[in-house]
Amino acid sequence: MIIFWEEKEIKDCRTLMLAVVVLRLLQSGVSVDAWGADGHHATCLLAEPLLAPATLKAVRSLLPEYAKGSLASLCTWPDDIKWQHQWRWTSPLHYIDTPDFLCRYNYLRDCHNEYGDKDMCVSGAINNFTSQLTSFQLPLDLAAPYLMTKHDHPNHYNLTEATLFLAHFVGDIHQPLHVGFTSDAGGNTISVHWYKRKYNLHHIWDSELINTAKQRFYNSSLSVMVDAILLKIGGKWVGETKSWGACANHGISCPDVYAAESISLACKYAYRNATPGSRLADEYFLSRLPIVERRLAQGGVRLAFILNRLFAQTSDSLINQK
Ligand SMILES: *[C@@H]1O[C@H](CO)[C@@H](O)[C@H](O)[C@H]1NC(C)=O
Ligand SMILES: *[C@@H]1O[C@H](CO)[C@@H](O)[C@H](O)[C@H]1NC(C)=O
Ligand SMILES: *[C@@H]1O[C@H](CO)[C@@H](O)[C@H](O)[C@H]1NC(C)=O
Repeated sequence: MIIFWEEKEIKDCRTLMLAVVVLRLLQSGVSVDAWGADGHHATCLLAEPLLAPATLKAVRSLLPEYAKGSLASLCTWPDDIKWQHQWRWTSPLHYIDTPDFLCRYNYLRDCHNEYGDKDMCVSGAINNFTSQLTSFQLPLDLAAPYLMTKHDHPNHYNLTEATLFLAHFVGDIHQPLHVGFTSDAGGNTISVHWYKRKYNLHHIWDSELINTAKQRFYNSSLSVMVDAILLKIGGKWVGETKSWGACANHGISCPDVYAAESISLACKYAYRNATPGSRLADEYFLSRLPIVERRLAQGGVRLAFILNRLFAQTSDSLINQK
C-alpha cells in the first residue's frame, strides 16, 4: 500500500501515516468473524477460472454493474453489511459453534443462532442460498437488468444477494476456526502473540497466516499467491479436485462435509499449541500454511463446482480441460 501511495506522489507524510493507521484499524475491524478480505478474494479468484462459460454468463447477469463482471470484487459484501440493522440476522450465518473439545460437528445439534433458531449457521445458510439459486433462469434479454425478471420467480428471492452470500459462506466454512468451539467463539477470545504482535487466534487464521505468507513467499501480492495455488490445483492436487467438488446423493452443495473437515482441522492444527498467551512464530506458521492454502483451494474449487451445477447443469468443473 505504501508503495502505491508513493507512486501517487502523496507527499504529506502525516496524511500517509494517518492513512496507514486507518487502514490498519479497518483491517483489524473487519477481522472479527470471517476469513479476512484476502481469504475471500482468494476463494473467489480461485473459483473464477474454473467456471463454465454458461456459469460465468449467469453469474455476471446477477452481479451489479459496478462489479464489472468480477465476482471476487463483491465476495466480502456479506461482511460489509452484517453490522447494519437490517442485516444483523445474517451475522450468525458466518460460522458454527460446536461443543468445546468434542472436535465434531452435527447439523441438528450445532446449526442454530444464539436464540436457538434452527438453520441459522454457515451450513444452513449455504443450503438456503444454494436452494434459492436453483430457481434462477437466465433473463431472456441479457441486456435488461436482472431485477426486471425477478418477479418471474415464484419465490421472489433476491438472487444477487443469494450469489454473494453463497460465494462468501463457502469461503468462511473452509476457515477451520469458523467451525470452532463455543466457549472461545472459534478462537476469538484466545489472545496469543504472533511474531511481535498480539492478536486473537481467530484473526490469525482469518488474516495473519495469509498476510505473512504473502509477504514472505508471494512478493506481498495476493494475486501472486492465488496464481501459485491455482498451479497446485492443476498440478499436485489435480487428482483430488474432483472429489473435493463432488457431493453425495446428487447434492448441489454439501456444507456438512466442509464443516466436519473444518472442526477436525481446527482441533488438529489451529487450537493445537495455541493456548492463551502462547507465542506463535515460524514453527506454527510454516506447519499451518499448507493447511490454509489447501482450504483456500478447496473453497475455490467447491464454489466453482457448486456454481457450475447451479448454472451450467454440469457436475464437472473445467479443471481437467485446462
Ligand atoms: C434464507 O434466506 C432468507 C432470505 O433470502 C432468510 O429470510 C432466511 O432467514 C435465510 N435462512 C438461512 C438459514 O440462511
Ligand atoms: C438485490 O439485492 C441487492 C443487494 O442488496 C440490491 O442492491 C438490489 O437492489 C436488490 N434487487 C432487487 C430487485 O431488490
Ligand atoms: C514484486 O513486486 C514489485 C512491486 O509491486 C514489482 O515491481 C516486482 O516486479 C515484483 N517482482 C516479481 C518477481 O514479481
